[in-house]
Amino acid sequence: MKISYRIAAVAALIVLACSFLITVNAQGKKPVPKLGKSTLKQVINAMTVEEKARLVVGMGFIMPGVPPPVKGQKPQPIDIGGFKLPPSDPEAYDVPEKVPGAAGRTHAIPRLGIPSITVSDGPAGLRIEPKRPNDPKTYYATAFPVATLLASSWDTALVRKVGVAFGNEIREYGVDIILGPALNIHRNPLGGRNFEYYSEDPLVAGSMTAAIVKGIQSNGVGTSIKHFAANNQETNRNSINTIVSERAMREIYLKGFSIAVKTAQPWTVMSSYNKINGTYTSERRDLQTTILKNEWGFKGLVMTDWFGGHDAVAQMNAGNDLLMPGNPDQSAAIVAAVKDGSLSIAQLDANVERILQIILKSPTFKGYKYSDKPDLVDHAKVSRTAAAQGMILLKNDSEALPLASGRRVAVFGNTSYNIIAGGTGSGDVHKAYTISLLQGLTNAGYKVQEQLAKNYTDYIADAKAKQPKNISFFIAPPPIPEMNVGDIVAKEADGADAAIITIGRNAGEGVDRKVENDYSLTEAEKGLISGVSRAFHAKGKKVVVVLNIGGVIEVASWRDNVDGILLAWQPGLEAGNAIADVLSGKVDPSGHLATTFAMSYGDEPTSKTFPGKEFPMPDGQKPNMLMGRPSEVTYEEGIYVGYRYFNTFKVKPAYEFGYGLSYTTFKLSDIKASSADFKGSITVKVTVKNTGKVAGKQVVQLYLSAPAQNIDKPESELKAFAKTGLLAPGQSQFLVFTLRAADLASFYTDKSEWIADAGEYKIKVGTSSTDIAKTVSFKLASPIVTEKVHAALTPQVTINELKNK
Ligand code: BGC
Repeated sequence: MKISYRIAAVAALIVLACSFLITVNAQGKKPVPKLGKSTLKQVINAMTVEEKARLVVGMGFIMPGVPPPVKGQKPQPIDIGGFKLPPSDPEAYDVPEKVPGAAGRTHAIPRLGIPSITVSDGPAGLRIEPKRPNDPKTYYATAFPVATLLASSWDTALVRKVGVAFGNEIREYGVDIILGPALNIHRNPLGGRNFEYYSEDPLVAGSMTAAIVKGIQSNGVGTSIKHFAANNQETNRNSINTIVSERAMREIYLKGFSIAVKTAQPWTVMSSYNKINGTYTSERRDLQTTILKNEWGFKGLVMTDWFGGHDAVAQMNAGNDLLMPGNPDQSAAIVAAVKDGSLSIAQLDANVERILQIILKSPTFKGYKYSDKPDLVDHAKVSRTAAAQGMILLKNDSEALPLASGRRVAVFGNTSYNIIAGGTGSGDVHKAYTISLLQGLTNAGYKVQEQLAKNYTDYIADAKAKQPKNISFFIAPPPIPEMNVGDIVAKEADGADAAIITIGRNAGEGVDRKVENDYSLTEAEKGLISGVSRAFHAKGKKVVVVLNIGGVIEVASWRDNVDGILLAWQPGLEAGNAIADVLSGKVDPSGHLATTFAMSYGDEPTSKTFPGKEFPMPDGQKPNMLMGRPSEVTYEEGIYVGYRYFNTFKVKPAYEFGYGLSYTTFKLSDIKASSADFKGSITVKVTVKNTGKVAGKQVVQLYLSAPAQNIDKPESELKAFAKTGLLAPGQSQFLVFTLRAADLASFYTDKSEWIADAGEYKIKVGTSSTDIAKTVSFKLASPIVTEKVHAALTPQVTINELKNK
């Protein structure tokens, strides 16, 4: 008793002494709290309103090629090719950058021990400047395969491994947070940034996001999952008003984000540019606070997309904690709002606290000594492995593939020589090299037709030299038209064992794709495919098309001409090697589509509404790239996006969601549900056997058809998936899936509830959304309310609009 009394007394004295030290220093003045040494409350209490307003607004950023603001003069808007961006904070130019080429920084507040942290793009690899003035070293980063390819692997363990390598580069180059992954839904195939996004299905998108976030964050750096939410197009991207039902938001556009937040807790979320039902997403409190933070339990901070939204105070009130890249006018507006009461200090403090919590976790705060030397050789191997695992064999008549290495191939198509590793814009990565298909085939031991290769190389070099030089960051140079191979093709068919034709597509932020000459093939491409096929088929030789694309294209009109089609997507810096791995059979193709290939663009459920209607400009104003024109898009298809539409309305696609071939064959058997009645959960067992001649992996997909009692439901929805390990011929693997009540539920808008309706459910297990091996049923006796949420996302009035009334 006595001893513990003494211990308690000593402890009390220490606490007293410490609190005395915090409040009074030797000179009798209050010492200043320091982040990490004092409590967050003490740090926040010690901050002035001006300091808080600086912390919640980024330091601005240096736009490549844009001169710094003139000292002593008010910063002017940044003019990029006629488009005006708000002026950058002059501090961005005055404070030396920690990592040149990074997209943004927060302000440091040295007196409180708060450092500036650095954020950088983008989803397929770290985007920083590869060269620095007066520095002989290089700072290249690995271009990993784009998200659409990673999703096509259906392999979350693999995607996590990519994240581990990716995160190591982020940490070793001194960056704190990567501005990715991106997981908007492939609502329409023309979306300019679809390559940055995973899928048309939220379970795939959310699972892939969670996997890569876990991998990246295992390095002690952060992620920013983006763009929250419904950022499904680039046309008028900074201002488009998206009219969408709460059910479609909850079941499709928010679902992936909720999976990622609940299972991986990304450090940050990036709000999107667009409006939802009349209000900018960054200004919607129901989205940023009620749903994201309160309903889903998101612990990190929300940052705006660059220059997103227009009302800093509304953004603060919405719980959009950090405004990026930041400009001093925003800080001034925040200070004024605290003074006039339109922003409470409690709300500002809440935003500040979330930012400080992330800073506390950052490598910069922890004083991490980064090497600037990530293991790029090892990461290139990771990139190559992942790339090969996400490629999809769409067609393989008469075993056109694999094509044994050592054979002689005639390589056609510009992108065989000038392969596209990834898309443009902030998703582009400064990589040290990209392996062309020609190089990859040569490396793999194929003999290539040399004169043809020379013709292509000369033709491309010549066309590139003629390309316009002043292309902006947002506008990729126009694609080089396909070379006319009319005269040489017959000779090539004599000399080579097979033909490979690559069809390439590039796109990126700021601009959506077009139907003509992009979704559809150009006349020259069609001519190339038919000409080569005719010549090679006449000699009894095979023709294989490689699709080096970031988003869906039209395939139905030309696929019958060729023997094989490999969908290689945009495979990162090891592109050519990874494609050769699959063409040669070194790697069995095991990718499956995570997005539907329709027969024609007109079959797409969103083809009539994408990219929305434009309205006249307000008097005296001209459209600019930042804000575009006043416009609106209505998601008339509701929840019927992708296969939910095609399968429910029985529209046959060219290649359905979930589809993918292999060089081997598989059989799914012993498919059994644990019970015929649902009691809390149900498990489904499947045996997968490799029934073919080579080793391979299979993707097993579980779809659920729910009873449409009170509201309409899609024909079926993906509820679980798994990829087997590499199965040798004859080898089997046993898989188990579990469905819980939440997996059965649909969103009832009128009740603000997720409800699993009573009735009969059908579980469909297969290898695509229509190739179903077996259907098993179970019954749910009475309905279950699996979650009660808040009514949200209806048209709302911003706090400032209220204020102005
Ligand atoms: C893009 C974001 C990107 C940001 C910073 C924006 O234009 O939409 O995805 O992270 O710029 O570069």
